[in-house]
Amino acid sequence: MTARIIGTGRAVPAEIITNDDLSRIVETNDEWISSRTGIRQRRIAKEETTAGLAAEAARKALEQSGKAPEEIQLVIVATCSSDYFFPNTACLVAKELGIRHAAGFDLSAACTGFLYAMNTAQAYMAAGMYENALIIGVETISKLVDWKDRSTCVLFGDGAGAAVLEAADTGFIGMVQHSDGEKADVLTCRTREMNNLLVSGDPALDYIKMEGQEVFKFAVKKVPECVEELLEKTGVSKEEIRYYILHQANSRIISSVAKRLKVEEDRFPMNVNLYGNTSAASIPILLDEMNRDGKLQKGDKLLLSGFGAGLTWGAALVEW
Ligand code: ACO
Repeated sequence: MTARIIGTGRAVPAEIITNDDLSRIVETNDEWISSRTGIRQRRIAKEETTAGLAAEAARKALEQSGKAPEEIQLVIVATCSSDYFFPNTACLVAKELGIRHAAGFDLSAACTGFLYAMNTAQAYMAAGMYENALIIGVETISKLVDWKDRSTCVLFGDGAGAAVLEAADTGFIGMVQHSDGEKADVLTCRTREMNNLLVSGDPALDYIKMEGQEVFKFAVKKVPECVEELLEKTGVSKEEIRYYILHQANSRIISSVAKRLKVEEDRFPMNVNLYGNTSAASIPILLDEMNRDGKLQKGDKLLLSGFGAGLTWGAALVEW
């Protein structure tokens, strides 16, 4: 038994912030941002919350899947920007949608989070433990961004994407997932300092810090490697893949991966220009756009690949 995607959805905040808007708060410009990253605008949450965006994306995915909320057995939310330390976002989504009997937990693997969540859900189904799952990638990462740091604040955006999986004989073909804690320092965002009866810490929260070039080098090396690893493991050739749906961090990373794999770039769809890097949400947002635009045909083989803080990375091969 494996799992099949039977519905997708997405939700993004209403407010659009362009590169020109950012040039009024930090020393930057549209030319620098778009030529280095491909990003032209992003959505930033104002009224929207992590759980609210997640629930909206999930509601659309459920509607498309034809599943009623009370049928859902498992909810996994991938996020590193939840509204609360607890309860988890999965329970808040369940509350909002009327999902009453599902197991629900959040999973943290930064920009690789949705991929880890999908792999986890399908493993539960392959083990026969659940018949369906709602998986969500969501971020209001704008609250973790230092809006005075031009080297990071131009890169990120908020949003959510969701998918409903159902146990089936075909659908999920295979996956690989990896991490390397040795490189943990190149992309970080600390939580609270220790502050208790024994330690008097600084209660100030920290913001995202990134060694951009290290992350770039990591991504353009590890993504092609894990794609090749997955293709070899599943016996599927590069030519059989209809689309390579990569984490949308940066168009130069995606172009470089296409080049290294020697695959035409038009099989690497992109929407980073519209949303920036939405971390765990980027893959399911793009998947939903393609689905609703009618770009995916039954039987298409899709290779999804994510990479991010941890460092974490991985890939999954699914048949639509
Ligand atoms: N506007 C104008 N100038 C800027 C900006 C900005 N927003 N940010 C940095 N600069 C300046 C720097 O200060 C530097 O100036 P200097 O030469 O006078 O010191 C110059 O531009 C070059 O800076 P670099 O950091 O070397 O720029 P680089 O060409 O490496 O591009 C970038 C930076 C776009 C972040 C690149 O490293 C990159 O794409 N990294 C990948 C990281 C990524 O996408 N992370 C996303 C999050 S992680 C993830 O999703 C996995």
